[in-house]
Amino acid sequence: MASKTPVHVTVTGAAGQIGYALLFRIASGQLLGADQPLVLRLLEIEPAMGALHGVVMELEDCAYPLVAGIEATSDLKTAFDGTSWALLVGSVPRKAGMERNDLLTVNGGSFGPQGEAIGAHAAPDVRVLVVGNPCNTNCLIARSHAPDVPDDRWFAMTRLDQNRARSLVARRTGVPVSAVQALAIWGNHSSTQFPDFENAVIDGRRLTDVVADRSWLQGEFITTVQQRGAAIIEARGASSAASAANAVIDSVRSVLEPTPPGETVSLAVVSHGEYGAPEELVFGYPVRSDGKSWQVVEGLSHSDFARERIGATTDELESERRAVEDLLLGPV
Ligand code: NAD
Ligand code: LMR
Repeated sequence: MASKTPVHVTVTGAAGQIGYALLFRIASGQLLGADQPLVLRLLEIEPAMGALHGVVMELEDCAYPLVAGIEATSDLKTAFDGTSWALLVGSVPRKAGMERNDLLTVNGGSFGPQGEAIGAHAAPDVRVLVVGNPCNTNCLIARSHAPDVPDDRWFAMTRLDQNRARSLVARRTGVPVSAVQALAIWGNHSSTQFPDFENAVIDGRRLTDVVADRSWLQGEFITTVQQRGAAIIEARGASSAASAANAVIDSVRSVLEPTPPGETVSLAVVSHGEYGAPEELVFGYPVRSDGKSWQVVEGLSHSDFARERIGATTDELESERRAVEDLLLGPV
């Protein structure tokens, strides 16, 4: 059988912590499949090119059969040339005591030029996953600079939050993680996000029937998920990296593969007003894929409590949008 044409995958911030946990998994076939050759296009800023060179040497020393080429560069055109998956990781992580949106002014400025380069040089089927924080609004910025790349190609990462919530509920209830389904993250990847326990299920039963302690769900559960990133920074002295890289793989796989029955996956996507979120915001929703296209899950209901929480995370995203108005191109 003839081998497939290599797919180009761009990773920005490739010499960083997440990059180091991610690249080897991509190169081994975990992102696009065990029979899909790929070309890695790795972007870094100039001062990190030496470190990136070291990472490239390690990738070469793994002799991965699927890797058809590696391009390490600080040039945006080269980084995004012909790429089908642009994984925008590169950006500064927060330190202890900061909120993720304190990074808007530090990181926001690099996402416009990256969006422009994606619009000008990427493959026609390009899809973009923004990881660098604050990821929802960085995605909004990048997208505004690439108006010809369709709306359904843009994602920001809320999957790590979903994985955290799912694992927390599994530990609390003593069931395997696989028994906890449809526990989606709404809104911003921030301390206002809403992990929607109301529409989640455990072994086919409503989560709220299994976990009767509503005060735990409305209190400690939500806060723990919202604050998990900060807790890791506090404990490790550096932000989550391996679990973030794992969530990148999960996010891409959940777009490419049909969503299992009864499951939903968390992705922040361009709002078309679903559930009242303002249009154009990059908003965390429960999503289902058929392997070719994806849709926001419709018809879910929420209590007043949930609606109030979804309102709060919506307000935060609106205020982030206002804060970066100068970085936006066009009407988003
Ligand atoms: P890191 O500091 O270890 O690495 C970041 C890398 O990005 C560095 O090598 C840096 O040189 C590079 N970089 C900075 N600006 C760049 C630019 N304009 N172009 C290309 N490269 C650039 O950080 P990390 O731990 O890898 O985290 C990266 C980002 O991911 C942070 O913003 C972090 O907050 C975010 N993050 C998001 C999630 C999520 O769930 N969405 C999870 C974890 C981390
Ligand atoms: C996370 O959720 O771990 C990342 O967004 C890093 C952070 O700043 O919390």
